[in-house]
Amino acid sequence: MNLIVAADECWGIGKNGGLLAHLPGDMKYFRTTTKGKTVVMGRRTLESFPEGKPLKNRTNIVLTKNREYRPEGVIICHDREEALGLLSRYEPEDIFIIGGGMIYREFLPYCKKAYVTHIYGDFRADTDFPNLDASEEWKLASAGERQEDGGISYEFRIYERIKEAE
Ligand SMILES: NC(=O)c1ccc[n+]([C@@H]2O[C@H](COP(=O)([O-])OP(=O)(O)OC[C@H]3O[C@@H](n4cnc5c(N)ncnc54)[C@H](OP(=O)(O)O)[C@@H]3O)[C@@H](O)[C@H]2O)c1
Repeated sequence: MNLIVAADECWGIGKNGGLLAHLPGDMKYFRTTTKGKTVVMGRRTLESFPEGKPLKNRTNIVLTKNREYRPEGVIICHDREEALGLLSRYEPEDIFIIGGGMIYREFLPYCKKAYVTHIYGDFRADTDFPNLDASEEWKLASAGERQEDGGISYEFRIYERIKEAE
């Protein structure tokens, strides 16, 4: 399976329940990359979307421990094992872990490819992502052209797993 994340230079990914920056170019990249695929997220990330609605044109899988939580248009899983069982029915390359911090950490060991939007700067995040540059399990496979939205510069990077998770 894959993951897709936007992280700043300190691997920060979120602040006050939302994203670090509004980057239309990154939103477009996210939509194009995940369209028609299965996306896996935590309950807090679902609630950070406009009106708490799932993403269109994608199968949305949401993790929560809350057995009463049944929002429309999503498949709910109550623990990681249940989610992995369900995900085994999909093609691994069609699965994208889309956050947030808790869910990335729990599913990172199963991911083979990471689509990382590298945002230049330090946004003083309160939620972060493991530093893949410091991990011997991952290598940077490619980096796109640096681009800019509203004075914030970023580039699309792809990391690949080179060693199984411990
Ligand atoms: N930069 C990016 O690319 C990106 C992407 C996504 C999100 N974000 C940001 O990340 C932040 C949210 O991340 P977060 O770590 O606070 O929350 P999260 O990972 O989105 O959601 C955490 C919730 O998921 C549920 N959960 C987690 N592990 C579970 C498990 N094993 N079994 C069942 N349920 C489980 C729990 O829900 P219950 O409490 O309901 O049990 C938990 O409170 C926000 O700021 C968001 O904007 C950034």
